[in-house]
Amino acid sequence: MRSLTTPATIAAGSLSGGPQPVLPAADGLVLRPWVDGDADVFLGAYRDPAIQRWHTRRPRTVTEVLGWFEQYRLDWARERGGHWAITRDGGPVLGRIAMRGFDFDDGISGCAYWVLPDARGAGVATTALVALSEWGLGAAGFFRLHLAHSTRNDASCRVATKAGFPWEGTMRSDAVHADGRHDMHLHARIKTDQND
Ligand SMILES: CC(C)(COP(=O)(O)OP(=O)(O)OC[C@H]1O[C@@H](n2cnc3c(N)ncnc32)[C@H](O)[C@@H]1OP(=O)(O)O)[C@@H](O)C(=O)NCCC(=O)NCCS
Repeated sequence: MRSLTTPATIAAGSLSGGPQPVLPAADGLVLRPWVDGDADVFLGAYRDPAIQRWHTRRPRTVTEVLGWFEQYRLDWARERGGHWAITRDGGPVLGRIAMRGFDFDDGISGCAYWVLPDARGAGVATTALVALSEWGLGAAGFFRLHLAHSTRNDASCRVATKAGFPWEGTMRSDAVHADGRHDMHLHARIKTDQND
């Protein structure tokens, strides 16, 4: 039995009642749900040393990737999160962006991303994060979106800041990486930031 004493920020069923949206972004980028045909490129991304460095949870086989994609579909259906491939004009996959840990009561969600090596340095992550957050804080109804990155991941810090997620603080020893625990920067964008 739900015992929340304040109104939920987002009504249950308001996202899962429809298909996961395709989100247009600037510069011809399009965020679309993953399809099984993306499994090879998704698996290949996790062979990149930089993605391996910052993402400790990773699939090892195409079968595992397909399991992840199924979980992504369930996340949407159960209103736990949303997972998008970043593409350009319906072309090849350039990267991944996600919202995780939907909390409809408080209207908050986490965000995460990676970009394939050949697509880096062209604004893909920043543009995708701006588009995702405009949808998340707009049509989807969230009030606050947050993300965290290792204090050693300067590129991710730059992406967050450029996309309108200012640094809020440092979470000491918050995540385990291959070389041990890292302090993590917390960044967030809130609905009332939008017109700043
Ligand atoms: C971090 C990552 C997502 C950035 O993707 P991208 O599409 O290249 O990002 P953008 O082009 O939008 O912006 C990158 C910014 O970081 C800056 N940058 C890149 N490498 C940097 C570094 N080592 N130190 C500081 N800034 C750096 C770029 O100069 C650019 O800023 P600018 O436009 O002001 O010059 C991508 O490098 C990646 O996938 N890395 C591996 C996985 C990862 O780090 N995921 C995030 C985990 S929290």
